Amino acid sequence: MTDEELLDAARTVRELAYCPYSEFRVGAAIIDENDNVHVGCNVENAAYPLGNCAEASAIAAMIAAGGQHIVTIAVAGGGSDTTRACTPCGGCRQRIREFSDDRTRIIVKDDDGEWRTFTMEELLPSSFHL
Ligand code: THU
Repeated sequence: MTDEELLDAARTVRELAYCPYSEFRVGAAIIDENDNVHVGCNVENAAYPLGNCAEASAIAAMIAAGGQHIVTIAVAGGGSDTTRACTPCGGCRQRIREFSDDRTRIIVKDDDGEWRTFTMEELLPSSFHL
């Protein structure tokens, strides 16, 4: 799967986000070590802290499908028409870290509307890992 196809998967699942409180849709798509693709969107709750981020949903889908490693994760945020920059939140950086290595790529849109690729070390330097 190409980066463009992975980005499309993230944009497509973003449309299914349940986010009546923030109205900020996020979709995430992962390619795992077996070349399988897993997607997830944010799922909010009236009890706000219980909401799930898209990255957490996609990681849960990967684990449930037998994947153990993130090769590439694409994150798409924004409304239904425009994809906006949505770098993973702090908690999701640690979640991605759990299943990544120094070759893992995290793809997001930047403020100029271009898709940018980050490494884990760029997003979460000197991270904690057992
Ligand atoms: N959100 C994500 O899904 N991923 C992130 O990395 C940042 C934030 C969601 C959480 C909430 O539903 C909405 O975006 C606004 O914060």
